[in-house]
Amino acid sequence: MLDITKIKKDFPVLENNSNLTYLDSAASSLKHRKVIQALDNYYEKIGVNVHRGVYKLSYQATDLYEEARSKIAKFINSDFEEVIFTRGASQALNLVASSYGEDFIFAGDEVITTELEHHSSCLPWIRICNKKKATLKYVPLNQEGRITVEAFKSVLSEKTKVVAITHVSNVMGYITPIKEIIRLAHSVGAVVILDAAQSVPHMKIDVKDLDCDFLAFSGHKMLGPTGIGVLYGKRKLLEKMQPIEFGGDMADLVLKDNATYKDIPYKFEAGTPIIAEAIGLGVACECLEEYGMENISNHEHRLCQLAMKLLANVDGVTVFNKTCETGVIAFNIDGVHPHDAASVFDKNDVCIRAGHHCAQLITRWLGQVSTLRASFYLYNTEEDVFKFVNTVIEARDFFRQFM
Ligand SMILES: Cc1ncc(COP(=O)(O)O)c(C=O)c1O
Repeated sequence: MLDITKIKKDFPVLENNSNLTYLDSAASSLKHRKVIQALDNYYEKIGVNVHRGVYKLSYQATDLYEEARSKIAKFINSDFEEVIFTRGASQALNLVASSYGEDFIFAGDEVITTELEHHSSCLPWIRICNKKKATLKYVPLNQEGRITVEAFKSVLSEKTKVVAITHVSNVMGYITPIKEIIRLAHSVGAVVILDAAQSVPHMKIDVKDLDCDFLAFSGHKMLGPTGIGVLYGKRKLLEKMQPIEFGGDMADLVLKDNATYKDIPYKFEAGTPIIAEAIGLGVACECLEEYGMENISNHEHRLCQLAMKLLANVDGVTVFNKTCETGVIAFNIDGVHPHDAASVFDKNDVCIRAGHHCAQLITRWLGQVSTLRASFYLYNTEEDVFKFVNTVIEARDFFRQFM
């Protein structure tokens, strides 16, 4: 069991905003004190570039940067060279589509995705498929809006070359039955790109056990800094892929009309890297490991179930996800625009999200233009759940007067 009173002290934003009920961690989590200290430490005591400097401070910066890569590799059980630093999950997913998609997708090939995707997962493949005259197929969602193995089988074919799929939906919180999907995709020779932006922060991820080909996530959703993310890729795939950005630090030999590039991961990290933030993300992984990923998922699952149970007794509220599989609740107050409802939450210092959550396909599938989303994480308490549900009731009652 997590000691939440103690955990809250690890997050300065909670200390500095004592009345805050933060239920928007699916967008961005709060930052751990040790992460902030790691950034401060780098900027105050080191502050110089990596890899190229031939002096002690630069060696220290390089050590910290590459140590961070090791920590992240350990966190997801990959090899060191398979961790590429990016600006976030979006850049990681775009990197794969631009590099792998450009060179290995041809007219007539098929790519599978789903309506549960965040735009960062599906848009790069919509572009590649249009450009390459490949066919983009969508897994039909079941009545609850889930991806099932059976539905996946119905779109899989010998022509499938890529599966671009979410591990956990950022709107519905559903967990994709990914191991079986990966196994089936591999049986026809397709590669699987897993958008793990909503799973890596909340559950133990082992890329070897999953056997995914690529996996993308963001630091800012897992106690870490903004502006840093990771693309994991299997070594044999990364080695045959071309870089998509060219410049400093990624070239090996440069001639007037040609060049060779460094080995992975460096050929994909052109320019001065995101040094402080990478170091911060390494620390965030250690913090998460210390709390225990299983403890975290159990805790947020328990809070989410409590919220869902309480909301089930509140009339005039529609909850869109049928079960709590992670810490996410997607809902609307009937007849009230989500942005209007959100203002009541803000008045009570309850931070939730209103909008299409960069997932217009599932929002449209739900028959909505936008939804409200509350998302729980390790620093939330039962009191947060009660305050959230009371605010739902308050918002409903307030807007009912005008209906
Ligand atoms: C499922 C999912 N994929 C991708 C992203 C994109 O992450 P980022 O904005 O950090 O690049 C998000 C962020 O909300 C997400 O929830």
